[in-house]
Amino acid sequence: MKVLVTGGTGYIGSHTVVELQNSGFETVIIDNLSNSSADVIDRIEKISGKRPDFVKLDLCDAGSLEIFFNTNKDIDSVIHFAAFKAVGESVQDPLMYYRNNVTGMINLLNETEKRKISNFVYSSSCTVYGEADKLPVSEDSPIKKAESPYGFTKQIGEQMLYDLSNVSEMQTIILRYFNPTGAHDSSLIGELPVGIPNNLVPYITQTAIGKRDMLTVNGNDYDTPDGTNIRDYIHVVDLAKAHVSSLKRLSEKKNNSNIEVFNLGTGNGNSVMEVIKTFEETTGIKLNYRIGPRREGDVISIYSDTKKANDVLGWKAERDLKNMMLTSWNWEKALADF
Ligand code: WQD
Repeated sequence: MKVLVTGGTGYIGSHTVVELQNSGFETVIIDNLSNSSADVIDRIEKISGKRPDFVKLDLCDAGSLEIFFNTNKDIDSVIHFAAFKAVGESVQDPLMYYRNNVTGMINLLNETEKRKISNFVYSSSCTVYGEADKLPVSEDSPIKKAESPYGFTKQIGEQMLYDLSNVSEMQTIILRYFNPTGAHDSSLIGELPVGIPNNLVPYITQTAIGKRDMLTVNGNDYDTPDGTNIRDYIHVVDLAKAHVSSLKRLSEKKNNSNIEVFNLGTGNGNSVMEVIKTFEETTGIKLNYRIGPRREGDVISIYSDTKKANDVLGWKAERDLKNMMLTSWNWEKALADF
């Protein structure tokens, strides 16, 4: 069974390829390297002892994608990560997001249908829930109007899979991530934000190592215990293992229907200030930060109901916020030595 991992040199993709290979799956990566580098392949090999096949390819190039599938006829499962994912950037350049995330996925699904690919795992996001009325959010929580073009492309991707599931033999699992953070224990792979980080934790570690002068906390006047936003941070290795669990579920035909959706979180909500405090306690570093204005589009609070993933998928997050801070910091220090 050969697994195609689109976006496999990216942050979550690379950690997932490691766990797939550790579990005996043969993998092939396609990636356009727009937000990652090919030396991640060497690092995956170093960690897992196996070198995944790799083809530099853009999903928007339908012709090259067809040639790829013509020359890789032994693929029977796909894990689809390849997408742009910066909320703010998507507001500035919506068409780039629709072209890349939606057209790319349509091209991929055209090929999976043509070749009768059996299993498909889709990287979605808690962003689809928007500002939930009730917390924690379960998979049945209503899907709200997307807060950004990025979030909307995730909703479109999910809808395409639901509509396809009515006419296709393909078996699908949709995974809604909460806030991925942390890095591999080897510090050989981790989050590699291009330019100024959008996300909280890489901004914290870059401030701690001196790449950034100061972290700005985006508002502390929200209706939460300490006034800052609450999120469900989940370790990227836990997230990667959930993809292996999902693929096994499909390949062993244990799924209850031909399309299933699971929230991937810890079920714990932590505020921005709690993340900062945990980072300081774990690393012994005093973080330089200030309180700034709110950030457009931020939801106040969101964290997951993990019951379905725990009981049905048989997966549970094992790592805590301290480990996320420790591995993120070790990765930042390792980056300084590259
Ligand atoms: C978390 C909190 C910020 C930076 C996004 C996507 C989501 C997923 C993860 C892909 C917020 C605050 C941040 C900073 C801050 N991406 N913050 N100062 O926005 O919850 O989720 O990334 O799957 O789909 O929407 O993550 O890390 O950007 O923000 O105060 O310099 O940290 O305002 O409250 P977010 P984030």
